[in-house]
Amino acid sequence: MPTVKRLSGREILDSRGRPTVLATCELEGGITASASVPSGASTGRAEAFELRDGNAKRYRGLGCRRAAANIGAELQGALVGREFDQTGLDQTMIALDGTLAKSRIGANAILAVSVAFARACALSRRVPLYQYFADMMGSSPSTIPRLTINLFSGGKHAGQQVSVQDVLIIPMSAQTVDEALVAAFDVYQAAAELILSKYGMRLLTADEGGLAPPCRTAEEMLGLAVEAIERAGYSPGKDVFLGIDVASTHFYENHKYRLDAEVLDSAEMIQTISRWLDRYPIVSVEDGLAEDDWENWPLLRRTIAGRALTLGDDLLCTNPVRIQRAVEGNACDALLLKVNQIGTLAEALEAYRQARAAGWSITLSVRSGETEDNWAADLAVGWQADQFKNGSIRQSERLAKYNRLLEIEEVTGWPLAAWPRRG
Ligand code: PGA
Ligand code: ZN
Repeated sequence: MPTVKRLSGREILDSRGRPTVLATCELEGGITASASVPSGASTGRAEAFELRDGNAKRYRGLGCRRAAANIGAELQGALVGREFDQTGLDQTMIALDGTLAKSRIGANAILAVSVAFARACALSRRVPLYQYFADMMGSSPSTIPRLTINLFSGGKHAGQQVSVQDVLIIPMSAQTVDEALVAAFDVYQAAAELILSKYGMRLLTADEGGLAPPCRTAEEMLGLAVEAIERAGYSPGKDVFLGIDVASTHFYENHKYRLDAEVLDSAEMIQTISRWLDRYPIVSVEDGLAEDDWENWPLLRRTIAGRALTLGDDLLCTNPVRIQRAVEGNACDALLLKVNQIGTLAEALEAYRQARAAGWSITLSVRSGETEDNWAADLAVGWQADQFKNGSIRQSERLAKYNRLLEIEEVTGWPLAAWPRRG
């Protein structure tokens, strides 16, 4: 097993210009690797804790110098000179932190070390990072996850002009990453032209590189997506399908959903989503209900089962305890897996296994605040996620991952994964 020789941390900036953490891990024998961690904006309450400096005079309190310093001081002190496998390293850091949410050392510091160690181990074994991740879970990859690509943004990623956070396109007839990106490019360009002609709005992008048309309702945005798919020469519901991230936690207040101009109770929210499924080719519904609306999730799942995945993001927070509750209550049939919601690779793998054991499908997702690091692409392939949610086809923090998938595709020749359940 590899021995940790030296650890160091550094504050760097993410794609929103906010600080985040990069860790560098040197192993005995001289191999060195770095990794950086992302950060969300539309976060769930149960997420692991990002340690930030809280100094209002610097980055409005968002600085990550303390988290970075914890890597070079406490984590280095506790881990140096010791041999670990991935799980052993992660469990040692969890125990050292000693808090449920990793709030003492910081989940951002801990995850940066977890991934930097993984990358250093892959280098020392002379295997690609996706192979290291595959070995970690004992899988033999044969496919690349199907891409769910952000086309339109609203909600917290685009200034709330419309309540729903993401409309995503899912190139379903694409057999390869290359074909999926070609379709995404065509639809994106068509959508940009439509937005210019309908709203007189030039091409401006939201946090994940998607377009943010000034739609007033979710249906207007879904209709625009279908029109863009057609204008690009594809058949909606055949070549290209849609996914939505309702992110409804962020417009849920006093047991009501403030969806655009409407105020809906949970049953009405479910009916609204069901109507969208009747009218638009939607095959994945993320956070259709809020993170605290546990009792209504089973009804949502039953209502849309067979038509679309019931995908839990804020509800689950990649947290094994919450996933267990959702499995027992039949609240979802798909996990949105974001490693930094839980804070180590080992725990993310536990979450993954729980979801798989329940027969769920898995969408591996990056965050709205990302860096140029591309480890999430390797993780999605190595762990054989069904889908990969990486934002739009603009901005280098997104392209770092798509371009890495192109490279993996070229080297392996693996096709895109089939859609797990069809409407
Ligand atoms: P976040 O949101 O990365 O801003 O938290 C992404 C999502 O809700 O899926
Ligand atoms: Zn989400």
